[in-house]
Amino acid sequence: MADGTDQKSSNQMWGGRFASGPSAIMEEINASIGFDKKLYAQDIRGSIAHATMLAEKGIISQEDKDKIVHGLNTILSEIEAGSFEFSRKLEDIHMNIEARLATLIGTAAGRLHTARSRNDQVALDFRLWVKEELQKTEGMLTALISAFLGRAEENADTVMPGFTHLQTAQPVTFGHHCMAYVEMFGRDRARVRHAIEHLDESPIGAAALAGTGYPIDRHMTAKALGFREPTRNSIDTVSDRDFALEFLSIASICATHLSRLAEEIVIWSTPQFGFIRLSDAFSTGSSIMPQKKNPDAAELVRAKTGRINGSLVALLTVMKGLPLAYSKDMQEDKEQVFDAAESLELAIAAMTGMIRDLEVRKDRMRAAAGSGYSTATDLADWLVREAGLPFRDAHHVTGNAVALAEKKGCDLADLSLEDLQAIHPAITSGVFDVLSVEASVASRTSFGGTAPSEVKKQIAWWRGRN
Ligand code: ARG
Repeated sequence: MADGTDQKSSNQMWGGRFASGPSAIMEEINASIGFDKKLYAQDIRGSIAHATMLAEKGIISQEDKDKIVHGLNTILSEIEAGSFEFSRKLEDIHMNIEARLATLIGTAAGRLHTARSRNDQVALDFRLWVKEELQKTEGMLTALISAFLGRAEENADTVMPGFTHLQTAQPVTFGHHCMAYVEMFGRDRARVRHAIEHLDESPIGAAALAGTGYPIDRHMTAKALGFREPTRNSIDTVSDRDFALEFLSIASICATHLSRLAEEIVIWSTPQFGFIRLSDAFSTGSSIMPQKKNPDAAELVRAKTGRINGSLVALLTVMKGLPLAYSKDMQEDKEQVFDAAESLELAIAAMTGMIRDLEVRKDRMRAAAGSGYSTATDLADWLVREAGLPFRDAHHVTGNAVALAEKKGCDLADLSLEDLQAIHPAITSGVFDVLSVEASVASRTSFGGTAPSEVKKQIAWWRGRN
């Protein structure tokens, strides 16, 4: 590329006071073009808005502005066509584009950088990028939530064991379990929406850090770029990367939810549990063991969480202890965010596919729900309700019934009335109505409980909110 620089000459953008060019190592550590070229569209949009405002305010001529806008649009098509040559000597996307603009339109290009600095420029480009990524994430989470709502609706009555400590606790419905994830991803989506609102302020015009003496109109550029308003403090504007940290925090929490789900999918799809069957589209075979169907996609979603959490810790560590305002350390923000965004998108997409496609093995869930004395609490509750026992005594009596069933190798519902009456004389045959798993789940009608009637209400509430 005819960018006017070579190894020996100094940088054409800021090289005025430098006698010789950067050493190869300096060039390598300094350059960000390898990754910040991703910001080309945002950089060009920002420059067009800036040049338009400069011309409106009479800071540059309309003629120069027209040349600049035309040149920038040409560069946009060159980059999109793959014919633009990026140069590491020009450090970053901002200077690559500006140098090309100079080649295309000559001296007018030099007027574009009036009243701005790369510090507010990069803050703008990156904010625009993160905002778009958050909007994309919001849509992807909506798709995942709707996949879960579909499965919850089909399985509002499907009984499965509910677990605490991964030990059978009480029967629940699979629909209810699905709705637990709807709540989690719903909170993630709310966090995304809040973050979009939070970052919706335009940095451009903060200049290097102190603002500028040119009569610029920051409200005009904010509006042109789709921001609610301009940022209020120029020093904060160029040193703030909260929006990137917020994106990474949200991504980490969301990835953590995804990895818990991934873990459940891994467990549920084992032959021992057999609660679900993954579709062929989201599993792989073993190269040596022909019987195997491996949940690789779920395992990789679980693993991506490590990467995403790593990005959050990396950027927190970069920002920690940085004095105000801009420091070059901050150039390290982008790769973390780009990598986490790519991983999160992939993880949400894979999970949405898995949830949509998985086969629910109701018979296996039902059989497991009835084992492990899962209705013991129902027996205790019956003793409280029908025989007037204090809950602590009922708990003790039920413990004796479980011990007897364990000795006989049967479920609670299989004990005879005589057996139960020997444990407590107040027990009548009515107790068998609550010992079935269906009766157990149907009775849990408290708000947010597992009863199919409640689960259907929660599904309807979420349907109204999408
Ligand atoms: N490539 C830089 C970054 O990503 C752009 C800002 C450079 N500013 C500066 N004063 N050197 O942060």
